[in-house]
Amino acid sequence: IRTILLGPPGAGKGTTAPKLVNEHQICHLSTGDMLREEIASGSKLGQEVKAVISEGRLVSDEIVCEMIKNNLSKPACQRGFVLDGFPRTVGQADKLNYMLKENGTPLDSVVEFKIDDAVLVERICGRLVHKPSGRSYHTKFAPPKVPMKDDVTGEPLMRRSDDNEESLKVRLAAYHAQTSPLAAYYGERNVHCPVNADMPAKDVFSAVQACFANKK
Ligand code: AP5
Ligand code: ZN
Repeated sequence: IRTILLGPPGAGKGTTAPKLVNEHQICHLSTGDMLREEIASGSKLGQEVKAVISEGRLVSDEIVCEMIKNNLSKPACQRGFVLDGFPRTVGQADKLNYMLKENGTPLDSVVEFKIDDAVLVERICGRLVHKPSGRSYHTKFAPPKVPMKDDVTGEPLMRRSDDNEESLKVRLAAYHAQTSPLAAYYGERNVHCPVNADMPAKDVFSAVQACFANKK
């Protein structure tokens, strides 16, 4: 399957994507994860985007489109892909359309995670992440087996630099202004699948899977 997960910060994109990867043997391309890896590596690009991300603003279309282009052609993505956090602007969506057309790989579905802003504050402020793998937990909704330790490696869990109320306000504003128009954009292209994201994660996953009925 080839899909985009569209939704505001904390909607559950990063929670759902690995389950789709597991179910359909596709690749997971998260521009947020890629940018955080750049920051962790100390690269020039990482240094450039560090403050932008902490403050909750969007990085440029050029940077993220280049990252997606480089990754979509990898063997791991030949069976399909789940794009998590990309595209986020109409400009990015137009560039993606062009790439997919060139590759002859149209989208099956664009899943929109629908949820009220009020629910997202608690989700974001309770999130814990295992940086090396990108696995995420929640202090209340998905606690690790041992407090502040990754279930698989036992390594410490951290908080993201943009997971605070101030940056979240900026991220939500960016979502509503620049990203939410993509729901109608993909509606016009007949691939939009809205899902209620304010349910337990396993129910959200079932609803997402229903967007791919008849696909394998
Ligand atoms: P990115 O990493 O994409 O962050 P985001 O869009 O703000 O989304 P999140 O990762 O916060 O939310 P999520 O939906 O993945 O939630 P999760 O499943 O983890 O981007 C970060 C930054 O990078 C951007 O702000 C921007 O600066 C830059 N960037 C990235 N892509 C870009 C692009 N294309 N263009 C420009 N700039 C870009 O869940 C959150 C928490 O809730 C977790 O703790 C989880 O356990 C919990 N949870 C999940 N589902 C449930 C549930 N159903 N019930 C209860 N708790 C739940
Ligand atoms: Zn995420």
